[in-house]
Amino acid sequence: MIETPTAQAIDRVARQLRAGGLVALPTETVYGLGADASQREAVAAIYALKGRPADHPLIVHVVDAAQAQRWGVLDARAQRLMAAFWPGPLTLIVPRAAEAAPWACGGQASIGLRCPSHPVAHAVLERFTQLGGSGVAAPSANRFGKVSPTTAQHVIDDLGDEAPLVLDGGPCEVGVESTIVDLTRERAALLRPGRVRRADIEAVLGQMLADPDELAPRASGTLAAHYSPRAAVELVDPSALLQRLSDCVRAGQTVGVWSPHDPGASSEVIWVEAPARPDDWEAALYAGLRALDARGVARMLVVAPPDTPVWDAVRDRLARAAAATGLSAAASTIKSTTTK
Ligand code: TXA
Ligand code: MG
Repeated sequence: MIETPTAQAIDRVARQLRAGGLVALPTETVYGLGADASQREAVAAIYALKGRPADHPLIVHVVDAAQAQRWGVLDARAQRLMAAFWPGPLTLIVPRAAEAAPWACGGQASIGLRCPSHPVAHAVLERFTQLGGSGVAAPSANRFGKVSPTTAQHVIDDLGDEAPLVLDGGPCEVGVESTIVDLTRERAALLRPGRVRRADIEAVLGQMLADPDELAPRASGTLAAHYSPRAAVELVDPSALLQRLSDCVRAGQTVGVWSPHDPGASSEVIWVEAPARPDDWEAALYAGLRALDARGVARMLVVAPPDTPVWDAVRDRLARAAAATGLSAAASTIKSTTTK
């Protein structure tokens, strides 16, 4: 059920969380599936509902930096980043505090912490804290590997009858998941690009961010194939678009095209205008993938955004959606050859 976030609804949701229940909450990035991070059973219910592997850690959402201290060991770098970007779309991976519940972070020695800026998420965390809570574990409120929800209705579309109560905070302003910075090692690393940009983090740290390597903490949002819609996603060079489009149309495929300019009307082609600014594309990305899926396109041809740092988050999510396409094509080939 979708609910308007009145003061009463927020109070009810906070109580439900304290009672061990699940709720879906709006954040400025994407909708989250929340549970009281200090309750083992409640956190287990998130994994069950999402179909998420047990060793993939969740992010713990806190009301402020002081509450973060209960969960993680916050060094000077963490303090500087929290001061600069919290509340907001930045998640810090830090060493887990001795007293923090291990199930809040998939049993890892590190923990992901984020203080959301969405007024509804903030109000829930505030009430939850008044009721004795200290952190809400919340992954994106979608089934594992699928596109994150950016409206309340997306949560219902994904989780169906199993969806818990969803507080409706409107469409998410940011639209892609938070930026994740790993602070568990001497050199800070960018694990997932997002709205808080690499250059802005580097300016605050006074240090270049490393890219994730094989020693970096595992993050499901950093798997090569993730964020996949049903249709095949293909990134194309602007100069190759018309050729690919005519190949697809000739093959009888209905195609969605994301490009800055209309490639020319044809009844088999659904054109979506690609925003010129990265923030706007981020905000439109997941809703756009869902909308094209809903129109039954077999393939989405996406004109690749520029290869510059401000486009990192869009390119990252599109590349993972495209990689998932490759994998599912390979998996169905294997299946069809083995079932013959
Ligand atoms: O914007 C967001 O971050 C949204 C909203 C709901 O806050 N949440 C979100 O959660 O994207 P989720 O679970 O879908 O992605 C969290 C990412 C995962 O890739 C997870 O593996 C990583 O954070 N993560 C969490 N704790 C970690 C840890 N201790 N070490 C490494 N990665 C961690
Ligand atoms: Mg997710």
